Amino acid sequence: MCGIVGYIGERNAQEVLIKGLRRLEYRGYDSAGIATLDAGKKPKGNISLQVKKCKGKLSTLRSMLEKRPLRGKIGISHVRWATHGIPNTSNAHPHWDCSGKIALVHNGIIENYEQLKEELIRQGHLFRSQTDTEVIVHLIGRYYKGRLEEAVRKALKQVRGAYAIAVISKDEPDTLIGARSGSPLIAGTAQGEGFLASDIPALLDYTNEVFLIDDGQMVVLTRNSVKIIDVQSGEKVRKEKVKIQWDVAQAEKEGYPHFMLKEIHEQPKAIRDTLMGRISRRRDAVILQELAPLRKTLSCVNKIVIISCGTAWHAGLVGKYTIERLCRIPVEVDTSSEFRYRDPIIDKRTLVVAISQSGETADTLAGMREAKDKGAKIISICNVLGSSVTRESQAVLYTHAGPEIAVASTKAYTCQLIVLYLFALYLAQARKTLSGARLKQLIRELERLPHSAEKILKDKKVVLECARRYYKSFGFLYLGRALNFPTALEGALKIKEISYIHAEGYAGGEMKHGPIALINPHLPVVCVAPSSHVHDKMLSNIQEIKARKGIVISVASAGDELVPHHSNHVVYIPKVEEIFSPALTVIPLQLLAYYIAVKRDCDVDQPKNLAKSVTVE
Ligand code: AGP
Repeated sequence: MCGIVGYIGERNAQEVLIKGLRRLEYRGYDSAGIATLDAGKKPKGNISLQVKKCKGKLSTLRSMLEKRPLRGKIGISHVRWATHGIPNTSNAHPHWDCSGKIALVHNGIIENYEQLKEELIRQGHLFRSQTDTEVIVHLIGRYYKGRLEEAVRKALKQVRGAYAIAVISKDEPDTLIGARSGSPLIAGTAQGEGFLASDIPALLDYTNEVFLIDDGQMVVLTRNSVKIIDVQSGEKVRKEKVKIQWDVAQAEKEGYPHFMLKEIHEQPKAIRDTLMGRISRRRDAVILQELAPLRKTLSCVNKIVIISCGTAWHAGLVGKYTIERLCRIPVEVDTSSEFRYRDPIIDKRTLVVAISQSGETADTLAGMREAKDKGAKIISICNVLGSSVTRESQAVLYTHAGPEIAVASTKAYTCQLIVLYLFALYLAQARKTLSGARLKQLIRELERLPHSAEKILKDKKVVLECARRYYKSFGFLYLGRALNFPTALEGALKIKEISYIHAEGYAGGEMKHGPIALINPHLPVVCVAPSSHVHDKMLSNIQEIKARKGIVISVASAGDELVPHHSNHVVYIPKVEEIFSPALTVIPLQLLAYYIAVKRDCDVDQPKNLAKSVTVE
C-alpha cells in the first residue's frame, strides 16, 4: 500500500513526481503529498524545503499545485493508503524532522514505532502526526551530523517492520536517498537524472533501465551517480541494471473510460503473450525452460500446495482441479494469510506454488518464507518482473499480462489460469499421466482461448441488459461447480469490490445447505454452467432457483438448449474443453461487475478501502 516517487535531475521535479504518482495511484488514494528543494530564482539562492499535502485523491493535490506550483529539481512524493492514523492532512506524507530540513515519504509499517516515538518525545522531538512513519524522519534528524547517508543508515538500524522510503535534505540538495525492507522500491537512471519509485510504470516516461533494490539495501542517487549499499554493514553492493520491456502506452488508458475495462479487453492479447514461446513448434509439448533447474524436484514431488490471496487464490483453486485431474498429484490450496499461521504439514517433497500479480503481497511472502523454512521448494507465478515474490522463489513462471492498474484484477487472473494450465500440462507430460494424443489435443484447445475470449468481448448485449436491470439489487448470488466453483467466487468478489453490493459465491452443491433460503424474486443468481461433467447438476440448481422465482443469469456454452430454457438471461461462451472453461466464463462476470459499478457511479479503478497491492498484513 502507498506509492512513493523520488526525483533528482534537471527537469521540473513537481512534474515528474506528480506524473509518477498518477501511475501509482492504484496503491493508495486517501491522501497525497509532495516535497521539493527550491533554490529560489537566484542561481545561488537559499535552498528551502517546500511541502504540499492534503487529504483525498491525487487530483486534490494537483489542483493545489496548479494554483501554487512548487519549484525545484529534486523532490519526493507520496500517495497514501492509511494504516496508522486517519486520512487527513497532518497524517499525509511527506513528513519532516524537527529542524524542518529533512523530508521523507514511506510505504510500509514500522512495528516498533510506539517505543521509538516515546523515546524521541522524551528527547524533545515534536510530533505532528499519528503515523508510524514520522519516527523515521525524526530518527534521521537525530543522527544527522552533516552526512544524510550516514544518518539514514543509522536510523534504519533502529526501526523494525516494513519500509520503502525516499528522503531529501535541504543541507544536501544534490542527494536523493531510498531504502527498502519488505516494501517494493526500484531506482531508475537516465542521463543526468535519478528516480525512485514503488513500481515500474511510474518511471516509464523517463527510463526503462532500473535497479531492483533488495531488502536491507539503500540507494544514494545524485544527478550522475548511483550507489547501492547494505544498510547493516554500510558496504557497497554491486548490482546490474534491468531493462524493462513494458512501454508507456501499456500503462495508459488508451481511450477506455477506466483501466478495468481496458484490462478486460486486453485479455486475448495477454493470454497470447503468456502462451508465447511456451508451446513447441509441432504443438505437441509444453516448454517451460524456467523450470529446468527444478526438474529433479518436480519428478519426486508428492504434494503441491498453492498459496495466494484474493483473486490469485481463486486462480489457485482452478489450479487444484486442473493439476489433480491431469497429473494425479494431490493439491492443497490455501489463502496465504491462513497458511502462514496454521503450521502446515510440508516437507522436502512438497512443492509450494505462490501466485501473485504484484509479487509484493505481504501474506504471500510470509507464507513462502514459512514454506522455505520447512524445506519446501517454491515456484511462483507472478506478473511483476523482479518483485519480492519472484526473488524469493527457486523458479518463476511469469504471466505476461502487462501492467495491471485497476484495483480489481482481471487480465492477471486469466493469465494466472493460463500459466497454471501450462504448468499442469508440463507436469502431466513429465510424469506421463496423459497420452501424447490427448496432450496435443489440449494444447491446441489452449491456443484457441485468445480467439474465444475475443468473441465473448465482441457481444456485450446481454451483460449490459443485466447491468441495466439489476444494478440496484440488494445482493447477488453466484453459483458454480467443479472448475467453475472458483469462477463463482471470483464473480462475487468482483462485484463486491467495485460495486459495494453484497455477493456470495457458492458451490452449486452447497445451495441446499443454506443459500437456497436467500432465493426470492428480487435476487439475481448468476449460474456458471458451461458444458462439463457437472452440467446436469448445475441445471438442477438452475431449476431449483426458478422454482422459487429467483432471477437466473446463466453463463452457458454455445449450442446449449437446456440452460436457456430455465434462465432469464444467458451469456454464451464458445465451446471449450472443460478444464479451460474458467478462463472464458469469468469474462462475462468481470463485465457484469464493471457495468454495474459504472451504473452505480462507483469509482471503478479505485474502490474505497482497497489498494492494489497489499504490502502489509
Ligand atoms: C483482486 O481483484 C483483488 N484486488 C485482490 O483480491 C488481489 O487479487 C489480492 O490482493 C492478491 O494480490 P496479488 O495477486 O498482487 O498478490
